[in-house]
Amino acid sequence: MPAIGTVVAITRNFPDRSMRSGARLRLRFLREPPVTQRLNDKVTLVTGAASGIGRATVMRFLEEGARVVAGDVDREGLDELAKECRDRPLSTQVVDVGERVQCEGLVADVLVGAGRLDVLVNSAGITSRGLEETLDYEEKWDAVLRINMKGTLMMCHAAVDAMRQQGGGAIVNLASIMGLISYHPDLPLSDGFNPYPHSKGGVIQITRDLGVRLAPEKIRVNAVCPGFVYTALTAGLAESPDLHQQLIRRHPMGRFAEPEEIASVIGFLASDEASFVTAAAWTVDGGYTAS
Ligand SMILES: NC(=O)c1ccc[n+]([C@@H]2O[C@H](COP(=O)([O-])OP(=O)(O)OC[C@H]3O[C@@H](n4cnc5c(N)ncnc54)[C@H](O)[C@@H]3O)[C@@H](O)[C@H]2O)c1
Repeated sequence: MPAIGTVVAITRNFPDRSMRSGARLRLRFLREPPVTQRLNDKVTLVTGAASGIGRATVMRFLEEGARVVAGDVDREGLDELAKECRDRPLSTQVVDVGERVQCEGLVADVLVGAGRLDVLVNSAGITSRGLEETLDYEEKWDAVLRINMKGTLMMCHAAVDAMRQQGGGAIVNLASIMGLISYHPDLPLSDGFNPYPHSKGGVIQITRDLGVRLAPEKIRVNAVCPGFVYTALTAGLAESPDLHQQLIRRHPMGRFAEPEEIASVIGFLASDEASFVTAAAWTVDGGYTAS
C-alpha cells in the first residue's frame, strides 16, 4: 500500500484513445482530506470543466469548500460531472468561450445565482491536433487562438467587471510551458506554425498585463504553465510510443503530470495564501523548462 500523498501512476500505460474525456482518466491520487478549507465559500467559475485539468480543478475546489459553476461546450461531460458531484455545491452551464455574448451571459448567470464571483479559472483549451486535417494553417491558427487566447481574454473581461465592483478576486489562466519555450526541433510537433504555443504565449501576456493593471483593485491574475499532463488533450500523442517516451524523457521527473497535480497549484493561486502573487506565470512541469 503506497503512502498517503503518493501519486500512483496507474495511467502510466497511457489510456486508450477511445476514452473521450480526461474525466475518465481515473487515477488514485492518494492524499489525506485537505487539512485546510482554503477556498471556503469562494464562488468559483471554471471553464473547460468537463474534462482534464478543469475537471480536476472543480473536484479540488469542491473538496476545499468552494461553490463552483462549471462551464464547458461539452454538455454530456458536464452532465457526468454533475452526476458525480450530486449533493455538492456545483452547477453546470454550457458555454462556448469563443463567443463573447456567451462569456458575458455565463458571468451574469453566476452573479444572479450566487451574488458574487470570487475566482475564475480559464481551463478551456484546444490544440490543432483535434481540428480537421483539411483546414489550412491560417484556419487552424484562427480556431486555436479563438478559444485559447481570445476566449481567455473575453472570460477575463466579463469577470473583471464583477470582481471590480465587489472589491477584488482571483483569476487563474491555463497557459503552458509552450507559452514560454518552443517545441524542441527533435519533436515532430511543430514546423513553427503550430498555433498552440502562440496562443499560450498570448495567455501569459494577457495574464501579466491584466495582473499589473488590476493589482491596485485587489484582483490577482496568474497563469499556470503545465508540462505534459495526462488528459484527453494529449491522448493522441500516445499513439506513437516513441514520441510518448521522448516527451517523458524531457521531464526530469520522468513522467507526465496528473491533472490533480495541476489543480492543487491552481487552488493555491486562487486562495488567500497567494495574497502577494500576481501577474506571474507558474511552471508546473516536473523540471521541463529548467532542463
Ligand atoms: N494536457 C496538457 O498536457 C496541458 C499542458 C499545458 C497546458 N494545458 C492547458 O490546460 C487546459 C486544459 O487542458 P486539458 O489538458 O485539461 O484538456 P481537455 O481536453 O481534457 O479539457 C479541455 C476542456 O475544454 C473544453 N472546451 C474546448 N473548447 C471549448 C470552448 N470553446 N468553450 C468551452 N469549453 C471548451 C473541452 O470540451 C474540454 O472539456 C487547456 O487550456 C490546455 O491548453 C494542458
